[in-house]
Amino acid sequence: GLGSSVLPKVVMKNSTKLCSRKPIVTVNGEFPGPTLYAREDDTVLVKVTNHVKYNVSIHWHGIRQLRTGWADGPAYVTQCPIPPGQSYVYNFTITGQRGTLLWHAHILWLRATVHGGIVILPKRGVPYPFPIPHKEVVVVLAEWWKSDTEAVINEALKSGLAPNVSDSHTINGHPGPVSNWGFTLPVENGKTYLLRLINAALNEELFFKIAGHKLTVVEVDATYVKPFKIDTVVIAPGQTTNVLVSADKNSGKYLVAASPFMDAPIAVDNTTATATLHYSGTLASTPTTTTSSPPKNATAIANKFVESLRSLNSKKYPAKVPQTVDHNLLFTVGLGVNPCPSCKAGNGSRVVASINNVTFVMPTTALLQAHFFNISGVFTTDFPGQPQHKFNYTGTAPSNLQTSSGTKVYRLAYNSTVQLVLQDTGIIAPENHPVHLHGFNFFAVGKGLGNYNPKTDPKKFNLVDPVERNTIGVPAGGWVAIRFRADNPGVWFMHCHLEVHTTWGLKMAFLVNNGKGPNESLLPPPSDLPKC
Ligand code: C2O
Repeated sequence: GLGSSVLPKVVMKNSTKLCSRKPIVTVNGEFPGPTLYAREDDTVLVKVTNHVKYNVSIHWHGIRQLRTGWADGPAYVTQCPIPPGQSYVYNFTITGQRGTLLWHAHILWLRATVHGGIVILPKRGVPYPFPIPHKEVVVVLAEWWKSDTEAVINEALKSGLAPNVSDSHTINGHPGPVSNWGFTLPVENGKTYLLRLINAALNEELFFKIAGHKLTVVEVDATYVKPFKIDTVVIAPGQTTNVLVSADKNSGKYLVAASPFMDAPIAVDNTTATATLHYSGTLASTPTTTTSSPPKNATAIANKFVESLRSLNSKKYPAKVPQTVDHNLLFTVGLGVNPCPSCKAGNGSRVVASINNVTFVMPTTALLQAHFFNISGVFTTDFPGQPQHKFNYTGTAPSNLQTSSGTKVYRLAYNSTVQLVLQDTGIIAPENHPVHLHGFNFFAVGKGLGNYNPKTDPKKFNLVDPVERNTIGVPAGGWVAIRFRADNPGVWFMHCHLEVHTTWGLKMAFLVNNGKGPNESLLPPPSDLPKC
């Protein structure tokens, strides 16, 4: 392998942005954090040492973690967090994956500043299925709050209302345009560049575009796609997108912009983060060509991108879409309102979120430990496979907005096939929920607006070359259908990757049993696994 030698130390660091200074939690003092480089088939060992006052855990978002759930990272799901002063070695092998992913803290709101890229190169001697770029650049999109992010969410939980939106988006740590138009990407005329775009923001889906340049999309979530050209990419928190950019201009500076996408009347950080594509030899200090960002509700632009995505589905990289279904599941995702006598600002109630009307309650022992060591009383296996209340999900809200709560998982037999329809409820407002499944890639076989119709909609599913990914936007006021094979024994978290919705309870877990074969069981936990 490449022998990645990052030894992440989680440390505090003072950082100044938007003219204000605050201490932030970082890895090795960097924001964004260091990029992890590896090759397909590499075994990766990352020793994470916690030097801050918070409990910490790190998630390798999109890494399959075949049989190694202990290294997945979500706190209280696959591990107890690493306490201050202690360390834990994440040990996993990258199997059948190459491309761009991200790592991030998976506890509290630490992901705001504790995140970075993962670059998985193909096996030695195996080329990309697209022209070799002159250079590759990791581009991390994120959000910045002037105040402390833990305080932001804690205040919101006290009040029962939504937390403050961020004060700026960032591109590779720069808000732009204050500091010389932000991050600079030097290019040479006639060369092609591979941008590895990562959305590490907590709560914002983002549009990404470059003035005067088309983007050729070649990969999302570390799976190759049929290349296509487009002006604007849309990328949800947790998603990654690789694009080729041809530097086909002679000179100049071209504005790069990241701005929010939100197709609902919900408050967003409406700032545009900027960077510049800088042709060598150009001296001008401000971009010669600027671009206008799409309005935040530009659903048509977002749809054009999403609907262009197809698996490469070549001989070498076939799309292994399950053609039959063992578990046919329908999950509603959305917000609700529960009583909260102490929530003054929320008038005695608080905003919550749920899947199939269950607001997930985090346990105090990790689910995977409870499963492996047969500790009873930590979770129940009665997560409903169908909605608990049938109503017109995208029309008028039902009279009772209240959710139930529990630490419930849904059990899947090893190697069974799953079709899961995720239906937005729009109870408070329809909203696009980027839902992330740990431990698997899935195929996005269908999507639509309104209520999912189990009789007619499956006839339109793409079971040939649907895009394969690990995080998918459930359209506002609509649904998506995904399929995957439960070939990874363990306990796997699934949640909305808008951190505010995760906090509110839009999360659940699948429990996949061991298979009977020799390589079909969850491996035993490493000896340094933190204790709760
Ligand atoms: Cu990137 Cu469970 O998250």
